[in-house]
Amino acid sequence: MLSQSLRRVPLFSSLSDEQIAALNAVAQRRSFRRGEVIFHKGDAGPTLFMITQGQVKIVLPSDGGGEEALLGVMDTGDFFGELSLIDEQPRSATIVASEDTDTLVLHRVDFLEFLSANPELAIVVMRVLCRRLREADEFIEDAIFLDVPGRLAKKLLELAETYGRDTPYGTVIGLRMTQQELAAMVGATRESVNKHLRAYRARGIIEIDRQRIIIYKPEELQRRIY
Ligand code: CMP
Repeated sequence: MLSQSLRRVPLFSSLSDEQIAALNAVAQRRSFRRGEVIFHKGDAGPTLFMITQGQVKIVLPSDGGGEEALLGVMDTGDFFGELSLIDEQPRSATIVASEDTDTLVLHRVDFLEFLSANPELAIVVMRVLCRRLREADEFIEDAIFLDVPGRLAKKLLELAETYGRDTPYGTVIGLRMTQQELAAMVGATRESVNKHLRAYRARGIIEIDRQRIIIYKPEELQRRIY
């Protein structure tokens, strides 16, 4: 049911049945396969997407192609595409489905009409925008003040916090990722990330097992950040 999918999006979780029914009437389902581009940076963007199941990555392609920066990952319950929807400028980043992903899509007119009728939702949207701006500031701060091993240590601890599973031998980061993707997350080259991962491994701080990273000594990574 579409209305159950809408309830799964925290943005809409406090809405009444009538409000959900009103949204239901205008939202559309769209599904994407793992690896599919949902839209490209620079596209026109009259729509907001809400993830009801799956995961996407936010990517900044480099001008020459090849390298890319990974701004972040969004999971079930998150929304994206709000920037172009609100300011009517082209898409600020490319969005790629990193798993098979189901979304609900709202068009600009419908979303803005819904916001005018339910102004409390605007506050929720603003809070999310505030959080994203703070994270972007932190990313800039880290790029300036931390070196690559420091940024790598910080990212591994963050990933462990969000996706970590504690086991008797360490915290397993439950996210399959290539070193290229990890490099894009910390704003470094794959070669450099590979070198520093190997150094952490040689010191018994982490282990790498088939694209999964296990953290043995989080305190050592923590020390590397300051
Ligand atoms: P939009 O510009 O419409 O399309 C790309 C989307 O990526 C953007 O809306 C946001 O939803 C999302 N996005 C862009 N930059 C960031 C960021 N720094 N942090 C989180 N999300 C972002």
